[in-house]
Amino acid sequence: MKFWKQSLGGFNVHHRCCYSIYAVCPFRFRANVTFNKEGLRSKFHAMAADRRPEFFKGAQLKVAIIGCGYVGLPLALRFAEAGHKVTGFDTDPKKVQMLSAGKSYIEHIQQTKIQQYVNSRHFGATTDFSKLEEADAILICVPTPLNEYREPDLSYVEETAKSIQPHLQKGQLVVLESTTYPGTTEELVLPILEKSGLRCLIASGPENENVPGDFFLAFSPEREDPGNKQFGLAQIPKVVGGVNPPSGRAAQALYAQVVSKVIPVSSTRAAEMAKLLENIFRCVNIALVNELKLLCLRMGVDVWEVIDAAASKPFGFMPFYPGPGLGGHCIPVDPFYLSWKAREYDFSTRFIELAGEINTSMPYHVVDSVGEALNRHKKSLKGSKLLVLGVAYKKDVDDLRESPTLKIMEILQKRGAEFDYNDPYFPHLHKMRHYNFENMKSVPLNAQTLASYDAVVISTDHSSYDYGAIVDAAKLVIDTRNATRRVMRHRDKIVLC
Ligand SMILES: NC(=O)c1ccc[n+]([C@@H]2O[C@H](COP(=O)([O-])OP(=O)(O)OC[C@H]3O[C@@H](n4cnc5c(N)ncnc54)[C@H](O)[C@@H]3O)[C@@H](O)[C@H]2O)c1
Repeated sequence: MKFWKQSLGGFNVHHRCCYSIYAVCPFRFRANVTFNKEGLRSKFHAMAADRRPEFFKGAQLKVAIIGCGYVGLPLALRFAEAGHKVTGFDTDPKKVQMLSAGKSYIEHIQQTKIQQYVNSRHFGATTDFSKLEEADAILICVPTPLNEYREPDLSYVEETAKSIQPHLQKGQLVVLESTTYPGTTEELVLPILEKSGLRCLIASGPENENVPGDFFLAFSPEREDPGNKQFGLAQIPKVVGGVNPPSGRAAQALYAQVVSKVIPVSSTRAAEMAKLLENIFRCVNIALVNELKLLCLRMGVDVWEVIDAAASKPFGFMPFYPGPGLGGHCIPVDPFYLSWKAREYDFSTRFIELAGEINTSMPYHVVDSVGEALNRHKKSLKGSKLLVLGVAYKKDVDDLRESPTLKIMEILQKRGAEFDYNDPYFPHLHKMRHYNFENMKSVPLNAQTLASYDAVVISTDHSSYDYGAIVDAAKLVIDTRNATRRVMRHRDKIVLC
């Protein structure tokens, strides 16, 4: 309704009507490209189809990456590696300073790589968004977290679109990479960019293969798996969907230069939904094994043995592993983008809700198990001294976001346990959005310290830990990851949970 009231007359009415229909129609509605007199008077009339999608097959393009984090920085370096001129834009001046000096702030991203491209002038960083005017392509890689009510917080995407808008140029390609619900590119980003007076029409189908437009707009989800040595960015196929066919082709041409395979889809919504499906698939399957683990524990069956046995089936099964809860920026967050959006369609995403319920209960299960294990040693949780091993959300990464260990530590604190932590990737902890363990420092790991605790809780199974030595020295070990599977000595000290 809002759009009907806002824009009366001419091209805009037709254009905005599309959006209001999207809001109630579960199917993709595409504009037929027809304009009335007023539309022809608009800037759109004068639009130049002078830059064709094929332009983005070219060499030495100027690529702007907005948001130089876990996703944006590797992407920037990949484009630089392919010979393009890349500028990283970030609102954090410290990051920009470090990048400009050729330094890395992400553990698995090598400093030498950044230095190499800074020196060859293929990569630079800035906080000055007016430099976006020089770019051929602008890729948005900013955070998409949940707010305190566990609803999508699109403020970073919105702010980014607002900072592009005054600098948007004809013929530029803008691609949103941040994970989000279907509709974001068309409903949030496009209207902000069009406030520039430049137009990009929502259209699909063969009849719109060459629909004219002032700029190109697409969505292409990032599939980065930080720390994954088997699949780097270049080996991971990239899904691409345009607001219209030329936008889709422009984005395909660009990404084909840096990834092994581009998978085109018919719309930005399909691309947005594809990313959510991938992450919901993981979230639901992890919840399934977490629930089965609870049953197996009660039945005295080793769930890890069961999963390995089932994984021997060469088709129709994919192993997922239980743990202390979900972590990372994606899996605990992204599914709720879809359940929030689904409410607009009177639709309840029950699998997502159920999976969320099971996964968020896991840190409580861990703390209950620690309490029970101590109880068997005639000790109470309250007042016991514990050592928590690993705070990162998964092994071998320097990423704390949404780590279930932080939740476990919070519950331990509330229940009166005393605890320290060790994590080779986090020598000390800082204040976070939901937690404050600011004054904590990682304690050194040796036989003497290990023996001084009532129990050791393995929360993150970093590869650098010597699990045999840990079990040897500790009085009691609560293992949430089956990290001690190969330890043969003192198995009586180990509680799998
Ligand atoms: N980390 C992953 O493994 C991963 C994988 C796939 C997809 N994603 C998605 O990619 C997106 C980015 O995630 P990330 O992990 O790189 O986040 P991040 O927090 O590591 O990086 C985001 C960067 O954006 C900067 N930033 C914030 N607001 C800005 C603004 N208005 N203008 C310019 N810069 C701004 C921040 O300073 C930060 O450097 C998210 O939507 C996330 O869901 C992440």
